[in-house]
Amino acid sequence: MDKTIVIFGATGDLTHRKLIPAIYNLFRKERLSGSFVIIGFARRPYTAESFCQELQDSANEYSANTFNLDTWEKFSQHIHYFQGDLNSAKDFEGLEDYLHSLENGQSDRLYYCATAPEFYESIARNLGNAGMTIQAAGWRDIVIEKPFGSDLSSARALNQTLHRFFSESQIFRIDHYLGKDTAQNILYFRFANAIFEPIWNRNYIDNIQITVAEQVNIGDRAGYYDSAGVLRDIFQNHLLQILTLISMEPPASFDADALRNEKVKVLSTLLPVKPEDIIVAQYRGYQQTPRVAPGSTTPTFGALKLHLGNWRWQGVHFYLRSGKALAEKSTEVVVVFKRPPHLIFNLDSGDKLTPNILSLCIQPDEGIHLSFEAKVPDSNQEMRSVDMEFHYQTDFGVNAIPDAYERLLLDAIKGDASLFARNDEIELAWKLIDQVIQDSQIEDAKELLLYEPGSWGPLEARKLLKRNGHSWHSMCRHS
Ligand code: BG6
Repeated sequence: MDKTIVIFGATGDLTHRKLIPAIYNLFRKERLSGSFVIIGFARRPYTAESFCQELQDSANEYSANTFNLDTWEKFSQHIHYFQGDLNSAKDFEGLEDYLHSLENGQSDRLYYCATAPEFYESIARNLGNAGMTIQAAGWRDIVIEKPFGSDLSSARALNQTLHRFFSESQIFRIDHYLGKDTAQNILYFRFANAIFEPIWNRNYIDNIQITVAEQVNIGDRAGYYDSAGVLRDIFQNHLLQILTLISMEPPASFDADALRNEKVKVLSTLLPVKPEDIIVAQYRGYQQTPRVAPGSTTPTFGALKLHLGNWRWQGVHFYLRSGKALAEKSTEVVVVFKRPPHLIFNLDSGDKLTPNILSLCIQPDEGIHLSFEAKVPDSNQEMRSVDMEFHYQTDFGVNAIPDAYERLLLDAIKGDASLFARNDEIELAWKLIDQVIQDSQIEDAKELLLYEPGSWGPLEARKLLKRNGHSWHSMCRHS
């Protein structure tokens, strides 16, 4: 079946930096079977040629190591442009006529909302009212970018509007972290190997730490970020998604519903977070960013201690943290195992063995590390932690990991929703984050916790773990 990809918000940043480079790379790798057309929809008065020229410059910039002019020229024959307004029902009718003129009667369609979130409902409504969601001449799917709502009630309202025009199986809610190969590999690590799963529970695991650290500050995104903050921007989606992958029960298959049912089970067993287990802070200097509201208390850093109310994870602490303007860019999952129950060696330093630590480096320097104790040669009973390492670069090559959008776009084009969030997942995640936001509100800006840019966040984030005798670990090699 032929494919039609309509990109709403075609002149925006996401289209230029991510979508077009990703589709170009899929074309280059011959992953797009059959014939396809891409239609950019936006307000600006472009011709197909001028639109293509701009996209070419972006593909050249954002996909520099795979860009090839001959391949691009073949690819660009598939690109078209339609000038229209997202709020105009008439323009959607015009778009429908235009699509008919490009398609040969039958074609599967993917509508990609690469716009600001306030347009999602209007796009769905206009598509619905123009009869463009009816699946008589091929399927009609819609991709929705994050943020999906700004709290539980807005996410519910958006789900309700979408469901008026699309069935759940037609809706693809993106979380680009699920498109990262290293995030998907969490499932392969757990369920394609027999040696880890038997110890993947409260009997062997002491605590699990998930970090999404960013070195960049909010840059010029204050317009969005100051009303979102780190809890909505990273915790509600990326961090909770990684948590589900690391803690879910084995699904019966890699099928969209089987996987998402297990993720939903995790999210529904999350216990409310105690106020003392929530740390939020802001980096020093945030207030001086253009377009940040005066006296803003928006957190740019968060650390939480979570618990899952189920058999497998009873008593295991899950620590999640994320922040902007931190010391390093690093996304890492650290699994800290329990110490051996009985000590037979004479230890010089204290009487405790260092626990085994498994680290899944999601990015950068993607890989897996396992630290274990080894006897220091030529010593009596001295031991030291050593590292068993796997690096993607060494085993799979330097440019082996594609951009997350490649996989997600290909799956959406194929109609496979396994790596996309379902409505109930999104709503459960919001339920928890709403509670955390509510309990972390501060009355007075003077109570705001600050941290130094370039640090690992406020001291309180360390104290949160220290209370249980834990500390943050990191085994990934930072850039
Ligand atoms: C986005 C957030 O979802 O993820 C950004 O809105 C953040 O604030 C980005 O910078 C991080 O993505 P990545 O892939 O660079 O870790």
